[in-house]
Amino acid sequence: MTRPAILVARAVFPEVLEHLGQHFDVESNQADTIFAKPELIARLQGKQGAFTTGSERIDAEVLAACPQLRVVANMAVGYNNFDIPACTAAGVLATNTPDVLTETTADFGFALMMATARRMAESEHFLRRGEWTRWSYDMFAGSDVHGSTLGILGMGRIGQAIARRGALGFGMKVVYHNRSRLPAEQEAPIGARYVDKATLLREADHLVLVLPYSAGAHHAIGAAELALMKPTATLTNIARGGIVDDAALAAALREGRIAAAGLDVFEGEPALNPALLTVPNVVLTPHIASSTMATRRAMADLAAKNLVAALTGGVAPTPINPEAWTKA
Ligand code: GLV
Repeated sequence: MTRPAILVARAVFPEVLEHLGQHFDVESNQADTIFAKPELIARLQGKQGAFTTGSERIDAEVLAACPQLRVVANMAVGYNNFDIPACTAAGVLATNTPDVLTETTADFGFALMMATARRMAESEHFLRRGEWTRWSYDMFAGSDVHGSTLGILGMGRIGQAIARRGALGFGMKVVYHNRSRLPAEQEAPIGARYVDKATLLREADHLVLVLPYSAGAHHAIGAAELALMKPTATLTNIARGGIVDDAALAAALREGRIAAAGLDVFEGEPALNPALLTVPNVVLTPHIASSTMATRRAMADLAAKNLVAALTGGVAPTPINPEAWTKA
């Protein structure tokens, strides 16, 4: 029997490539160039599987041009780079990497929120510029995290993990908004209070965005939403670029309409809205919330496990659209 062929679209751990090579004919991309759509389509010819990251868009055009494709395995929990209805219609199983990154991503979200509240990046830049000549009573005075109100927009696995850190470790009050309310037994241990979005924006001292990107979430935080926030509040986005209107945020930061922001994701990344680079009260990181060696390895292993199981007669552990293969 011929072995299935797969494309590993971006560079990955050599050990993971080796493992995939035990099951598949593998075309890899250890040079880590990002394939534009025509090249992605060309390289997917004859491939039954693809190992992707957020940089590969799998849409109806790609699917139509790659009729042999059966599985796309994203090394990410978010999958807005996949057109899931189009994958399902084409009988292509899509998978992602939930759970293995939850705690690592929550650690980073909490750290970014703290760095933002306590002005760590802004004060470090000041120090590196050689401007620190003396102590003063209000130097880089930020706002407290402990005992304040933590607002979470998007209370999924990662949102809940951040809420746990805030409630149990820092004595924060937790308010959240989500498509659906959590069961009471999940709210109770962290004292989480479900509120409408406007109330969340008004009450949060530190608002953290952890919702998945969808067309409906585009610019969920724009000028109108920022205007509802406290002038002392911070905003942290570890979800996806496009959820925040970055131009509106840069204006709000410049005008002091909110105190500060922490951003790990950006509209149009890796490009940044240049206005964000000119405001001091923002902490900027390059989409690294899940990036510890252990967790990135666990994500790569899970993406590989999905491909191997699905293409060798097993059951993919974390499918997004299992119906792609179960419908008649
Ligand atoms: C990273 O952004 C992910 O979705 O895993």
